[in-house]
Amino acid sequence: MRDRRTKDDKGESNVSKLIIQGAGPLKGRVRVSGAKNSVLPIIAASLLADGRSVIEEVPYLNDVKIMCELVDSLGASTEFSDDRTRLEISSRSLLNTTAPYELVNRMRASFLIAGPLLARCGHVKISLPGGCAIGSRPVDLHLKGFAALGGSITQGHGYIEISSSGCLKGGKVYLDFPSVGATENTMMAAVLAEGHTIIENAAIEPEVVDLATYLTSMGADIKGAGTDTIKINGVKELHPANHTIIPDRIEAGTFMVAAAITGGDITIENVVPDHLKPVTAKLREAGVEISEELTSVRVRGNRISPVDIKTHPYPGFPTDMQSQITSLLSVACGTSVVIETIFENRFMHVCELKRMGANIKVEGRSAIIEGCSRLTGAKVKATDLRAGAALILAGLCAEGATEILDVEHVDRGYYRIDEKLKSLGAVISRADGD
Ligand code: EPZ
Repeated sequence: MRDRRTKDDKGESNVSKLIIQGAGPLKGRVRVSGAKNSVLPIIAASLLADGRSVIEEVPYLNDVKIMCELVDSLGASTEFSDDRTRLEISSRSLLNTTAPYELVNRMRASFLIAGPLLARCGHVKISLPGGCAIGSRPVDLHLKGFAALGGSITQGHGYIEISSSGCLKGGKVYLDFPSVGATENTMMAAVLAEGHTIIENAAIEPEVVDLATYLTSMGADIKGAGTDTIKINGVKELHPANHTIIPDRIEAGTFMVAAAITGGDITIENVVPDHLKPVTAKLREAGVEISEELTSVRVRGNRISPVDIKTHPYPGFPTDMQSQITSLLSVACGTSVVIETIFENRFMHVCELKRMGANIKVEGRSAIIEGCSRLTGAKVKATDLRAGAALILAGLCAEGATEILDVEHVDRGYYRIDEKLKSLGAVISRADGD
């Protein structure tokens, strides 16, 4: 297959199809990149300080480029190092506090600039982020946090405008659901507010803790990040800081499933084993051999036993690993039930897996999976980031060739996943989509 990879201005491929030949066990070592869901709020948080912050271990992902484009449009300036792992962000003078539809609509995490702009400039006008393939994705809890800090909110013409007469005031907010984004946005709004803020029923994901670590290094006064109650004493101003992004636990989990689904033997480096606990526990329950070192895990696949999964906020089984484990359970020796409690429409990968021979029945929030002996390669379509990852995993163990269209969804969250898999023995290539 001629690899007609085309390059964008930064030499990144923008072709939209992956072709995978099921080629037996994957073996070797692979290094995980920095966490997408940590670097996105941290880029937004850099708007809070006047000066140049330096962020290391940044994954050069399409979503990261979109977030950089957004903060640049607000008056900040972002620049990647030549090897694209270090990002410098200067936000001396923020000229603009309006985030346009054209940018916000490309990535819902854009909404994370609301808290920093409100805190630093007392105003933000931002297009309401649309829903996406996996659900309606409301922002009511973000707005509840801003209102608790004295933000006054108006909506109209698809935009939300939030302003505060003078400085935000510390307040107390109980999040009806431990929303990751709402916790992060409220925390970023509160760090420069006058007085004391308490966020109750806060999200405790590692990425929330990483953001709090970065904010603290900028001079913020935050206690309790990583627990369900975060206490913040507002400070007058923050200063730039250097920070290294934590490893991406979802990318790590995806490679763990790659070892399991191909019966391979992969050592995954640059991980925090503690962040992988719910995934490790479930894979072990399914018969996968996992040994942990300080910053790596070794995963050996065996005969896969069926297991039941229910997604929960951290430290429960992550919703971002649900699609991937559904692929694995499609070739388990028995019946598994997967229940998705976080998003209302996160089984889009099931229709595509069924085209590959999977035997899955979706009833509301549950998927009943009758494991089959072998999947067969087919032409399938990635509907969202993690669904695309699930199809790649299925293609690695399927008989014959699998073509995955719309692979730009995958590139949003995985840096050069095809090259990393190729280094483990996968037969995978990119080509123009059709
Ligand atoms: C973050 O999204 C992640 N994205 C998601 O990862 C992840 O799936 C999700 O957290 C859950 O862990 C980033 O961090 C950039 P939530 P977020 O607010 O913050 C409801 C991936 O694949 N909700 O915790 O948007 C919401 O509808 C992506 O990497 C409200 O009702 O997730 C959902 O049912 C996908 N009102 C639930 O909470 C709100 O104001 C979880 O959402 C906010 C959320």
